Amino acid sequence: MPVVDRLYRPLKDLRISVTDRCNFRCSYCMPKEIFGQDYPFLKREEILSFEEIIRVAKVASTLGVEKIRLTGGEPLLRKGVSELISQLNRIEGIRYITLTTNGVYLEKYAEQLKQAGICRVNVSLDSLDPEIFKQINDMNIGPEPVLKGILRAKETGLEVKVNMVVKKGVNESQVLPMVQFFKEKEIALRFIEFMDVGSTNGWDLKDVLTKKELHSIISEKYPIEPVNPTYFGEVAKRYRYVGSSSEVGFISSVSETFCSSCTRARLSTDGKIYTCLFASEGFDLKSLLRSSVDDSELKQVLMDVWNKREDRYSELRTEKSEKRKKIEMSYIGG
Ligand code: GTP
Ligand code: 5AD
Ligand code: SF4
Ligand code: SF4
Repeated sequence: MPVVDRLYRPLKDLRISVTDRCNFRCSYCMPKEIFGQDYPFLKREEILSFEEIIRVAKVASTLGVEKIRLTGGEPLLRKGVSELISQLNRIEGIRYITLTTNGVYLEKYAEQLKQAGICRVNVSLDSLDPEIFKQINDMNIGPEPVLKGILRAKETGLEVKVNMVVKKGVNESQVLPMVQFFKEKEIALRFIEFMDVGSTNGWDLKDVLTKKELHSIISEKYPIEPVNPTYFGEVAKRYRYVGSSSEVGFISSVSETFCSSCTRARLSTDGKIYTCLFASEGFDLKSLLRSSVDDSELKQVLMDVWNKREDRYSELRTEKSEKRKKIEMSYIGG
């Protein structure tokens, strides 16, 4: 029996963060001033083991979860991710396993990921211009390794989507070059409105380039037409370039919210369940996993957490980001 929350939304997706570490320091996610040399990243014993992750995924699948997305930080920094994917793939009821990555190590791992049974990778890339890209990732890394990773993933037969977060005054000049490049390569590109996730990224509504603005910049040069969603609750609004099969999408969490169809739960690196990307508190599943509870008790707990859920942060968002402490993106995986 699928479980529903207080707003009648079923639980369908589980986003699992496998590490809180990343090789980038994107200013909108892990600004260097905060995530510096001394930042207290999680210790090994604090992180869920693969066995624990698989146990949660199994129980979640009995509640209706069909899709799993591995995130981070940067998920490819966790040793043995392909092995984890193979094991998740064996769970009855899990139909899709996907991964969101910054792409730097994708060239190296694409083949392994494909073999392990992943169906798609979403790769973040905010600029083709090396200087702008380096400014964003703050690690002096140009776009070449990411582009190589994207092309390698496509060659291996993985479906690939590219995510570009757009921030006014930072990378809006890259919108059309990105459109042109990925349209030619026939790789779907999605523009993400800059969001007020966490408490450290200095979000301001005036920095957000909205879906409407992006749509108009793109369609002036490349006419686009809407495409039907592939699944209920799809986060991106999808479009096709007229006369082409290439797609472009918009993830408009700020200007056109999508909470009413949000079917996602998030499992943090240290084993907390979050029912919203903008939550302050998670439910500590790790303590339960490390106690003597059996799977049926675990299932009941997950069911209760989802039953109580009434989050719809984006719908309630005001012009200023809320002052209360929200969980950081790199810890909950976006
Ligand atoms: P597919 O549609 O399966 O390809 O995945 P996705 O778009 O859900 O996942 P991805 O990790 O590529 O996320 C793209 C962007 O959407 C990121 O910026 C996420 O933070 C954002 N996003 C994903 N789910 C949610 C959500 O439930 N709420 C909000 N506000 N943003 C989300
Ligand atoms: N707003 C919007 N998207 C963000 N991402 C990271 N931080 C933010 C933010 N503040 C994106 C990443 C990646 C995805 C998981 O979330 O670029 O594509
Ligand atoms: Fe950038 Fe993604 Fe790393 Fe955050 S997790 S710093 S968005 S690459
Ligand atoms: Fe779901 Fe929260 Fe995002 Fe709304 S803001 S779509 S409830 S994760």
